[in-house]
Amino acid sequence: MTAKKKRILSGMRPTGPLHLGNLYGALANWIKMQEEYDCFFFIADWHALTSSYEDTGSIADYVRQMIIDWLSAGLSPEKSTIFVQSHIKEHAELFLLLSMITPTSWLERNPTYKDQITQLSNKDLSTYGFLGYPVLMAADIIIYKADGVPVGVDQVPHTEITREIARRFNNFYGKVFPEPEAILTQTPKILGIDRRKMSKSYDNAIYLSDTPNDIKSKVSRMITDPQRARKSDPGNPDVCNVFEFHKLYTDDQTINEINEQCRCAQIGCVDCKKIMAENLIEALGPINEKRKYYEARPEIVEEIIVTGTDKARRVARKTMEEVRSAIKI
Ligand code: TRP
Ligand code: SF4
Repeated sequence: MTAKKKRILSGMRPTGPLHLGNLYGALANWIKMQEEYDCFFFIADWHALTSSYEDTGSIADYVRQMIIDWLSAGLSPEKSTIFVQSHIKEHAELFLLLSMITPTSWLERNPTYKDQITQLSNKDLSTYGFLGYPVLMAADIIIYKADGVPVGVDQVPHTEITREIARRFNNFYGKVFPEPEAILTQTPKILGIDRRKMSKSYDNAIYLSDTPNDIKSKVSRMITDPQRARKSDPGNPDVCNVFEFHKLYTDDQTINEINEQCRCAQIGCVDCKKIMAENLIEALGPINEKRKYYEARPEIVEEIIVTGTDKARRVARKTMEEVRSAIKI
């Protein structure tokens, strides 16, 4: 008999179109995992409200765009359960129950919480919902009894709190939940075009949905080896963001040539970038084709969301029956 597949769950907040940082930071890894695990992937639209509660006008469109990005990049509705958090009200019920047993001190000392409050100083994040972000996330995860949660390092404090909450629940009411493990995503070191972390808010991102012209123009503006001022100066690919991109999109032989030629100033950054931009455009070609397909067929996208949500809801309802009976309420 084959062992039961491990269940993996992860989510993304619908804050805008997906960029290459999101692709390599999470999605590419999800696409691999769906071959091996029982995967649940969802759009955390309630979590998007924790920081954009004043301006909610774009969230619904971002949700749809994000599902299209996922499908176009290769997430498969046959292999994975794909759904939207706010369509499954059971998450909110479990969130409420978990909030009764979560000490506020666990939330106040959360390093991600403190970081965000300082970093996003233009927003008033002194809300109850923002403090409770990890409690909602814990509900998202344990309602499906997930074994593993693929996340970036910034989310590890949240998965730790999830484990603590699950343990506390089990101690009080009897064992209902497994303690999920964070699975850290290995990511290539690509940065935004200005060499900062790729992020929508820095305006330095290359999006999966960018047109070939967008890509050419962004790549031409990419900062290369900062020490290389002129074409006649030798460059150092080891510190060059363009070279990191080559490692993802260019064949090995060309990479070796560029590596040598850059170091003895035989190739200039303009030409080097042109080669990379062409390869990147080619790699994104099939994703763009699929996007066009789904954009022209909104009913298929809708159907995928409904099917995935129904499947997830059945699991969530079953867990909630166990939860209510454990709490005797
Ligand atoms: N907090 C996650 C992020 O911003 C999104 C998220 C919400 C999530 N609920 C989750 C991720 C549950 C994993 C599991 O990236
Ligand atoms: Fe970077 Fe290429 Fe310029 Fe070398 S030639 S510094 S690898 S962009």
